[in-house]
Amino acid sequence: MLPKLPTVTDQKNKTQSPQKSRSRILAKTNTLSIEVLEMLGVADRAQIIALSETLEVQYGTHAKWTENTVQRYFNFPATKPIVARLFGKIIGFIIGVPLENFAQEFWAKGDSNLHQHNTAYTYTFVVGQKYRGKGYAATLKTVYLNQMKKLGYDYVSGHVLDGVARQFSKTAVVIRKYKNWQSTGKTFEYYRRPLN
Ligand SMILES: CC(C)(COP(=O)(O)OP(=O)(O)OC[C@H]1O[C@@H](n2cnc3c(N)ncnc32)[C@H](O)[C@@H]1OP(=O)(O)O)[C@@H](O)C(=O)NCCC(=O)NCCS
Repeated sequence: MLPKLPTVTDQKNKTQSPQKSRSRILAKTNTLSIEVLEMLGVADRAQIIALSETLEVQYGTHAKWTENTVQRYFNFPATKPIVARLFGKIIGFIIGVPLENFAQEFWAKGDSNLHQHNTAYTYTFVVGQKYRGKGYAATLKTVYLNQMKKLGYDYVSGHVLDGVARQFSKTAVVIRKYKNWQSTGKTFEYYRRPLN
């Protein structure tokens, strides 16, 4: 989480957002759907910003999302924003970004997979407070991992709080730990997880 994506290559974000999002459903039950958000609409944008407030609470004010952050990261097809919708309302999201987008970042330079075009960096994984511990996050993550594999990636990577990667149900390797990551005052670890 939190590193800055340097460039927005897609011009569409400079135009006005539509009222309604455009998305493609990847998985669905009667109540829950997991979707790739190809174009973010106005109402969903407000919901994404509201959900991201949890990041500010947890990691400090500079972790807060702005309109600009949303534009950078909900920027399909350059990024792969995947959302969970419960009864039509977005309750969580996770975003895959090609690792090469972070080529200028010191931590990415330390990843031997940089420039192999085989890694989706996981930028932010958020589920609304009252929807946690109910399996929605696990479902969202499973569909995300499957989708990244389908897109041809061999690995996902990401920064998580110290100790979180070893709790994943499938093996992840911790490549490095960072004290006071992005001035959060917390130690984060950078993990890599094979998609097999
Ligand atoms: C992270 C979050 C989405 C997990 O939601 P939850 O309902 O508590 O989910 P669970 O604890 O049941 O975990 C579901 C899966 O996600 C994994 N997970 C937990 N935190 C994770 C993270 N930061 N990155 C990737 N996976 C994570 C769990 O290990 C579990 O994986 P598994 O299916 O491989 O076993 C939720 O706690 C949240 O929104 N937190 C605030 C935002 C945040 O700090 N996000 C992480 C940094 S961006």
